[in-house]
Amino acid sequence: MRQWWKWVIYAGSIAALIVSASFAIYCAWKVYAYHQPGEGAAAEAEKNAFHFVLVPEELDNDYWRLVEQGAKAAAKETGVYLEYAGPRQANIDEHIHILEKAAASKVDGIMTQGLTEKEFTPVINHIVEKNIPVVTIDTDAPTSKRTAYIGTDNYYAGFIAGRALAEDMHGKANVAIITGSFTASNQQLRVQGFKDAVKEEKGIHIVAVEESHITRVQAAEKAYNILKKHPEVNAFYGTSALDAIGIAKVVEQFHREKGTYIIGFDTLPETIRYLQKGTIHATVVQEPYEMGYRAVKMMVDIRKGNNVPSVINTETKVIRKQDLPLRPSRNYEVNHD
Ligand code: BGC
Repeated sequence: MRQWWKWVIYAGSIAALIVSASFAIYCAWKVYAYHQPGEGAAAEAEKNAFHFVLVPEELDNDYWRLVEQGAKAAAKETGVYLEYAGPRQANIDEHIHILEKAAASKVDGIMTQGLTEKEFTPVINHIVEKNIPVVTIDTDAPTSKRTAYIGTDNYYAGFIAGRALAEDMHGKANVAIITGSFTASNQQLRVQGFKDAVKEEKGIHIVAVEESHITRVQAAEKAYNILKKHPEVNAFYGTSALDAIGIAKVVEQFHREKGTYIIGFDTLPETIRYLQKGTIHATVVQEPYEMGYRAVKMMVDIRKGNNVPSVINTETKVIRKQDLPLRPSRNYEVNHD
């Protein structure tokens, strides 16, 4: 009798073990089956995603970080894998090397500037000949084989800066220009547009033109030397994003903010602070976030074989203190994150 009960208990335990083991296996299979198709689809989507590269003039420049943020937002929306790679400090050789490396790794599209015709046009053409589309951004390379340009009309931007200065100074000023670069075509166009806008003004004299290599430190150094050498200067025009910031610092150092007019470029937070304070009087608005955002969307269209316009000019206008705060646009949201 006792033996019989023993066998019943044994058999019962084995049956319970088998049932729970099968249940565990069933659950594990369910979990596996549930995750498998999802993960597979994600991996598949990633494998098929377009891989674009955005190459800025300078990696850690606040202006280019806005372009990057716009591009990233569009990449997220469209499922694109976006890489942001560029020189630590503006450097044409390094810039070109990075473009060539991106082309060699057979990416699906490259977005960059056409900084100089001599260096950038052949590289862009070489990339396009490898069937990798190029969209120029911020600075065009109009004679290259790039598919499209998105960005400011740089001559027009310089022209409206010149008109603003002439108006605000009532046609009388000794002007010093600090430009990001003597060789970059967007900077040349901004200087040329400005000069053309003031050329009929008999009371406006351009006393000096210096180069900052797009850094606020060199813009400050150049402004310092100009004020020492040409104390008659009472107006500055800075043509790249950090120039007016460097100029403003020096003008305050010289306690010349009352008698010195400054017009710059872009709406970085520091520029807005100086505008609010009255050290900077006007600035030319560009739309870096929009450039990045629309360039990625455009590149997706190009890859899908859709037609895109060959030139899209983003909005450009002059603002002064009374125009603050900026209307809540994408740039504004990014600046205040
Ligand atoms: C220009 C960019 C330049 C940046 C430098 C901007 O105003 O559009 O081309 O790289 O300034 O800070």
